[in-house]
Amino acid sequence: MKIAFVGKGGSGKTTLSSLFIRHLAATGRPVIAVDADINQHLGPALGLADAQAAELPALGAHLPEIKEYLRGSNPLIRSAEEMIKTTPPGRGSRLLRIVEENPVYAACARPIALDEGSVRLLVTGAFTEEDLGVACYHSKVGAVELLLNHLVDGRDEYVVTDMTAGSDSFASGLFTRFDLTFLVVEPTRKGVSVYHQYKDYARDFDVQLRVVGNKVQGPDDLDFLRREVGDDLLTAFGHSDWVRRLEQGAEPPLRALEPGNRTVLERLREEADAAHELRDARRYTEQAVLFHLRNAESWANAKVGIDLATQVDHEFVLGGEQAATAGALG
Ligand SMILES: Nc1ncnc2c1ncn2[C@@H]1O[C@H](COP(=O)(O)OP(=O)(O)O)[C@@H](O)[C@H]1O
Ligand SMILES: [Mg+2]
Repeated sequence: MKIAFVGKGGSGKTTLSSLFIRHLAATGRPVIAVDADINQHLGPALGLADAQAAELPALGAHLPEIKEYLRGSNPLIRSAEEMIKTTPPGRGSRLLRIVEENPVYAACARPIALDEGSVRLLVTGAFTEEDLGVACYHSKVGAVELLLNHLVDGRDEYVVTDMTAGSDSFASGLFTRFDLTFLVVEPTRKGVSVYHQYKDYARDFDVQLRVVGNKVQGPDDLDFLRREVGDDLLTAFGHSDWVRRLEQGAEPPLRALEPGNRTVLERLREEADAAHELRDARRYTEQAVLFHLRNAESWANAKVGIDLATQVDHEFVLGGEQAATAGALG
């Protein structure tokens, strides 16, 4: 399952994504955590010291190797230089799986031992507000888009991405690469202001979006969210003393989290698993191709100097080979 957390800065994306990751890991599920936020805080939220977090290898710094590996023997992609962030996989491409060793994980993923279970962490690398909208930003977040487009994931294994806030995440195809997107919203007018914007984008691209309230302090907060967001409100995480202790430098064990908030994490998992039923491998692949063709026309053909539409393998469906094998096995 490919899951994203989005929302305004400060709404609690990093807090909730790290807790969701810990919840999944504690129940023995394989998880890859991805930090794609401008402010790279997921490592520390998962318990890394700042010095350790600063040493994490950045995906953005390993793009040539990543492309060389993923392209494999795909005859439509003649070199890593001709591969852009949206170049879709085809026959001959190397695909990634959540549980495996491969050169991409060896170069970029780092294991993190949690108090219950463990995860692998990938980070885009730090970028600044000024990077937004320019090539540097896109090459960093582009690495995540490239990986997700080549990742074949099964039920009960998860990639959880802490995304950057704001409309720039809609400028690329990245926001369509998830089975489910959790929009973290505080019960304030500012908090819900992004909801309508996200909802419009989600509708246009068939993105599964669920609102998760955060820092909810009582029935009035909950009523406010219900009024503003309606049925899109999945659940609400309360204001948490456990989170506050964490912020103060303590390392409270996950099992000490408030039971109501732990229930919220379980609710998120149920919703994620339900999204599995709605998967459509063909549509997923078609959207990857759509964004590739858009990028090709708007800037990449000119930059690379070839017609990048020729990279599309129209016979290929990501995950389709799995379905075929399952069918053959009866
Ligand atoms: N449910 C909560 N209870 C208490 N504090 C919270 C809660 N959620 C988030 N916070 C605090 O709010 C601040 C912003 O949260 P953070 O997860 O960093 O937001 P974002 O990643 O969206 O910018 C942090 O100081 C965090 O500890
Ligand atoms: Mg954050």
